[in-house]
Amino acid sequence: MATGLLRRAFTGISSSTSPAARRVLLRAFASEPQIDASTPKARETSKLKTFSIYRWSPDSPTKPELKEYEIDLKDCGPMVLDALIKIKNEMDPSLTFRRSCREGICGSCAMNIDGCNGLACLTKIESGSATTITPLPHMYVIKDLVVDMTNFYNQYKSIEPWLKRKNPAEEPGKEILQTKKDRAKLDGMYECILCACCSTSCPSYWWNPEAYLGPAALLHANRWIVDSRDEYTKERLDAINDEYKLYRCHTILNCARACPKGLNPGKQIQHIKQLQPAGNSDSLSV
Ligand code: SF4
Ligand code: F3S
Ligand code: FES
Repeated sequence: MATGLLRRAFTGISSSTSPAARRVLLRAFASEPQIDASTPKARETSKLKTFSIYRWSPDSPTKPELKEYEIDLKDCGPMVLDALIKIKNEMDPSLTFRRSCREGICGSCAMNIDGCNGLACLTKIESGSATTITPLPHMYVIKDLVVDMTNFYNQYKSIEPWLKRKNPAEEPGKEILQTKKDRAKLDGMYECILCACCSTSCPSYWWNPEAYLGPAALLHANRWIVDSRDEYTKERLDAINDEYKLYRCHTILNCARACPKGLNPGKQIQHIKQLQPAGNSDSLSV
């Protein structure tokens, strides 16, 4: 109100206003606090959060450790990957992790967050107590949160994940068509991004990581087994009809819970077992 009056007084200065009155008015207006749209609001209080992150480097032969970093969530994106990037950019450039797409497509930011496998870019930061981040379980660690995926990719490769034909396409160079109904049979499998969250959550895979193919590779095996265009269904079934490769799946279903894309590898494995000749069983001891 006072400022308004002074403003009016200020604009009321005319050529007839005496120099003394003009000085008084100008001084009074200058000393009055200014209301400005750009005046910064009172700073909100910070919201601190601790991240406890697995650290190990082949360059320093020490035991792995959980190192704590405290960041202000008010100055950070909402996802765990945002926190990791902030820590790396602003606090510790030596922190090592994989990431690329930051939208759940590339599968590279898979890790264990508070005991559950998941993608850091799709996992929201929980407010409250500290969040613990470790590499995918039961994998060889290369550095910090980066694990060796060689065995996992070799298992994927072993199921020959490509279309195999005995008869050439009717018209060379043309697509091999399938009905909408046959195409729909691939739903729930083609969406897999090979992040390894499922396989590394499976206790059976933990105990037999090389002999048992694991849920991801078996999901892809089924993807090609059910594909109406593929002509090697029997050979594919025979190749994995093995007490370790296939029958180490004991329907534990951790894989379905862990999958960040909402897939159910356990169900696909069950389908493969149903297609196998009678007489095989998954009741073999571990
Ligand atoms: Fe990842 Fe799911 Fe594919 Fe497993 S099935 S590799 S968890 S996307
Ligand atoms: Fe493992 Fe999933 Fe089978 S958790 S045992 S692959 S159902
Ligand atoms: Fe690509 Fe997370 S960065 S899935």
